[in-house]
Amino acid sequence: MDDDRLDEELVTERFDAESLVRAGADDLERAAEAALRPRRLEEFVGQAVVREQLSLVLQAAMARGRAPDHVLLSGPPGLGKTTLAMIIAGELGASLRITSGPAIQHAGDLAAVLSSLEEGEVLFIDEIHRLARPAEELLYVAMEDFRVDVVVGKGAGASAIPLTLPPFTVVGATTRAGLLPAPLRDRFGFTGHLDFYATEELERVLVRSAGLLGVPLAGEAAAEIASRSRGTPRIANRLLRRVRDWAEVRGDGTLGLAAARSALQVYEVDERGLDRLDRAVLSALCTRFGGGPVGLTTLAVAVGEEPETVETVAEPFLVREGLVGRTQRGRVALPAAWEHLGLDVPKTVDTLFG
Ligand SMILES: Nc1ncnc2c1ncn2[C@@H]1O[C@H](COP(=O)(O)OP(=O)(O)O)[C@@H](O)[C@H]1O
Ligand SMILES: [Mg+2]
Repeated sequence: MDDDRLDEELVTERFDAESLVRAGADDLERAAEAALRPRRLEEFVGQAVVREQLSLVLQAAMARGRAPDHVLLSGPPGLGKTTLAMIIAGELGASLRITSGPAIQHAGDLAAVLSSLEEGEVLFIDEIHRLARPAEELLYVAMEDFRVDVVVGKGAGASAIPLTLPPFTVVGATTRAGLLPAPLRDRFGFTGHLDFYATEELERVLVRSAGLLGVPLAGEAAAEIASRSRGTPRIANRLLRRVRDWAEVRGDGTLGLAAARSALQVYEVDERGLDRLDRAVLSALCTRFGGGPVGLTTLAVAVGEEPETVETVAEPFLVREGLVGRTQRGRVALPAAWEHLGLDVPKTVDTLFG
């Protein structure tokens, strides 16, 4: 995988590298994650619908002895897209080639990858919405007709040699299915959309991870960590590692409820999984601006951040949680925001949103 890609996950991390509750991952974290990835579909926790659909696609293809249809996986960062791509190859007993939209600079790069594919291989294209247009067009043809034109020579003397490809399966992953052009989307026989996990599912992720890491995790602690993990396995696993640190250094090595709470307090991750910036935004909105509406720039100045940071790092989760609303005239605090801060909800807000 390309190391210095500028995807939104990494940009997010750069804005707020210390935060434990962002869904993106850096390279160091990817290494820690590799040990926790489920290898088989039945080990993959939750996402029952996608799991069942995918299982049918794969089993049917195997029964026919053919490469399955191309698969598109969409959903926010940290929910298991890369994991599922690896599982698909694993279930098929096929080898996996990994690349990403940003790693493919020119159509020729993609042509080289495609023309070296062997029968039945799985080609995983992460962040497929970031493929350059010429590469995208080459991919349509390869996916549909299993053909690629390899250009030899340069300038006027260049010629295209059509090359037939063996059957293979593209697995595309995207955080932004909406950004994929329709012709590309249509080439996928199956699209699985991953959604945020229920707390109970994250508990199962945590219990499984704790088992693999060999750390004693109490059920209550698993529930506590899960409820602060924003519906995201990546965040759950990360918080688990930090709670383990606390338990080993400050506690007695066991991960009980008290250890989980103390650790997450140290790392400033609150009961809903909000971090310091999230709370600063809420607090400014409720106390300084009386609940808004207030413009993004003003709000950002109030918390000492760039507007873009507030908009891309803090806001999406606050909006998703029903704490903040976006209106034509600016950002508004919703009743849950006051409640979360332990403040009385003003009467005017009750009538507006109640
Ligand atoms: N359903 C799941 N069950 C268990 N672990 C999961 C699940 N989904 C994701 N994870 C874990 O979360 C981390 C992030 O998953 P990943 O596949 O890299 O997410 P994405 O590619 O969607 O950003 C990995 O360590 C993976 O093991
Ligand atoms: Mg991924």
